[in-house]
Formats: sequence, structure tokens, C-alpha cells
Amino acid sequence: MHTLLVTGGAGFIGSNFVRYVSAHAPHIRMIVLDALTYAGNIANLDGVKNVEFVHGSITDEKLVDSLMSRVDTVVHFAAESHNDRAITQPRIFFETNVMGTLILLQAAVKYDVRFHHISTDEVFGDTALDSTEKFTESSSYKPSSPYAASKAASDHMVRAWVRTYGLRATISNCSNNYGPFQHIEKFIPRAITNALCGLPIKLYGDGLAVRDWIHVEDQCSAIWEILQNGHIGQTYLVGANCTINNAHVVNMLEEILPQYCGEQKITVEHVRDRLGADRRYALDPHKIVEELGWKAKHTDFRKGLSQTVEWYANHQDWWEAYKPDVERSYANLGQ
Ligand code: NAD
Ligand code: DAU
Repeated sequence: MHTLLVTGGAGFIGSNFVRYVSAHAPHIRMIVLDALTYAGNIANLDGVKNVEFVHGSITDEKLVDSLMSRVDTVVHFAAESHNDRAITQPRIFFETNVMGTLILLQAAVKYDVRFHHISTDEVFGDTALDSTEKFTESSSYKPSSPYAASKAASDHMVRAWVRTYGLRATISNCSNNYGPFQHIEKFIPRAITNALCGLPIKLYGDGLAVRDWIHVEDQCSAIWEILQNGHIGQTYLVGANCTINNAHVVNMLEEILPQYCGEQKITVEHVRDRLGADRRYALDPHKIVEELGWKAKHTDFRKGLSQTVEWYANHQDWWEAYKPDVERSYANLGQ
């Protein structure tokens, strides 16, 4: 691997991954292709060396063709990623996550480029709250939201391109990431920044939905491991065995936040749940642990959460300008 195309490299996980590669393999040249939608921020790449930034869309066939001809590997993060938005504006999710992936796959076949596709545990749907089931690589696809359906379609396409055209591809399906540079529309950064602004933390529905949390740096190390040693045609589930319900995450935040909030009182407001809300995700990362020897490093969730709170408290300039717009959009949804 000499030259890497990173789609969506100005977003949350993509930018963390670019930093990770730059730190661990400084000899690799990276091209970041990002459309800088509301979720992308060029400042996320400040100070990173060996990166050429290209402002453009994965749905631009000509641009994708010319970039693909210059690289040997692609890691495909670019997507519309937020469930609440997918419920009100599903079309762009299919244009980006399905058609964009199609265009990348065709170009990757043309230039015989190694392809790693970033996906989500949401393709497997959810389980009941009292279930102990964990998703594995052989779980059935059962997406329940428009976002998850678009990601499921893209996973199926990657497998079809491996079988039909011999594309050298791998897929990883990861659980909920948290950490620095995550957009403040997402649960943890929204809760932190609400508290820092003196707004109530918003808890959807009964607050009992369960997510399986992983620090973004662990997601990046897993992707790196798959690029080095993953077997072509294989899928790897990536998670850190950290299932917690949302109310419990909020309880931890209520303990961590006071030192950053001065006199402001931290309050919590229950708001209406997402339409069709998924109850519980949990995944079994055995395969990547056993076959590739990958291990999550951030196994203390409370510590990772404290560091994340500290990051948002120290980077108000990164998020405060767009906080009012994000909260206005949520207010329109009653959330
Ligand atoms: P994000 O929304 O923070 O970033 C997405 C990036 O893609 C942004 O920089 C955006 O500008 C860019 N983008 C959007 N449309 C584009 C287009 N047409 N062309 C080029 N760039 C475009 O998302 P994220 O949370 O970093 O997620 C990255 C990937 O990881 C997604 O594929 C998502 O499905 C997957 N994933 C996310 C999580 C999570 O917890 N955040 C978990 C598992 C998988
Ligand atoms: O599981 C992986 C997925 O995790 C990724 O594929 C998605 O891209 C990513 O956005 C994330 O999806 P979720 O829908 O699980 O994440 P979100 O942060 O939007 O919500 C997490 C939980 O918190 C969910 O049960 C809804 C709830 N929630 C969310 C917000 C924004 C709240 O209670 N309050 C909130 O303010």
C-alpha cells in the first residue's frame, strides 16, 4: 500500500483514520475525497501531513475515475450517516450511500484497486432489550431504518462486486463510535454540548435503548489491521463489548460534566423517540480478534467518555458556531 484514497476523510471517523495513518505509516500518501456536506469539516484535517484534499463528491464519475487511477487502495467512509436525518430526507442517503458506492466500485474494478468498505452494525436490525444475542458475521441482514437500508444495500453491492468482477474487497461493520471530531448532532456530543451551553440533555423515549460503544481510535486500528492482514472477500465485525443504555450514558455524563459547567445545573429532558427506533445493538468481535489479533485499547468507557467531554470543552470554537442550527433542526422534530 503506497497511495490511499480516503472517501469522507473530513468527517468524524474518516478524519480520525487519516490522523491514525499519518501517525502510524507516514510513508503512505493519502488523497481525501470529501464533498464537505454539513457533516464534513476541512478543519478536522488541520496539521495532518501527507494528505492531498480534493473537494468533490463520490457521485462524480469523472472525478472518481481520475482519482482511482492514481491510488492502489481505497477506504470508503463517505456517507450520509445520521438516522434522524434519514427519516425526513431519505433520498440523499440512497444517492450517496448506494449510487456513490456504485461509482466507486466501478472505478475500483477498472483500476484493480484494493477496496475497504466501512459499514455499520445497523444492517442487522435490532434485538429486544432483554435479549443476550450478539450479531456475528453470519447474522441475517434486517435493516429497520432508511439509513441502515442504504448501508445494507451498499454491503450487498460490495460482495456482488467481489464475486462478479473479482474486486479485492473487505467490509467492516462497526458499532457506535464516540470520541473527538464527532458531529454534535449525534447522541454523546449533543448531550455534552447541550450541557456546556446550559441546555437540557435530550433523552429519546424511555432512554432504555442500548448501544454498543467503541472509541473511534479502536475503530481506526481495526480498519488498519484489516487493510494489512484481512482476507479478501471477508467481512469483520468491529466492537469493544461495551453495551450500555442511553440513560446510563447520561448518568455518567452527569457525574463527569459538573467540573466543566460552572454554576450551570445539568438537566435532562425526555423527548419523543425516533420513528421506528432500534432498541438494542450488540456485536461479537470474535472473528477480528481471533483471526487478525486485533484488540480494542480503550476498554474503560467511563475514561473514554471523560476524555471526550474534555475534548468538547476545550474545542468550543470547533462546534459553537453551528450549535444553534443543529438545535433548531431538532426542535422542528420535537426532539
Ligand atoms: P460523518 O457524517 O461524520 O462523515 C461523513 C463524511 O462523508 C463527511 O465528511 C461528509 O462531508 C462526507 N460525504 C457525504 N457525502 C459525500 C459525498 N457524496 N461525496 C464525498 N463525501 C461525502 O460520518 P461518520 O460517523 O464519520 O461515518 C463514516 C462512515 O462510517 C459511514 O459510512 C458510516 O455509515 C460508518 N459508520 C459510522 C459509525 C458511527 O458510529 N459514527 C459506526 C459504524 C459505521
Ligand atoms: O451503530 C452504528 C451507528 O451508530 C452508525 O452506523 C451511525 O452512523 C451512527 O450515527 C450511530 O447511529 P445511532 O442512531 O445509534 O446514533 P445516535 O447518536 O443518533 O443515537 C444513539 C442513541 O441515542 C439512539 O438510541 C438515539 C439516542 N439519542 C440520540 C440523540 C441525538 C438520544 O437519546 N438523544 C439524542 O439527543
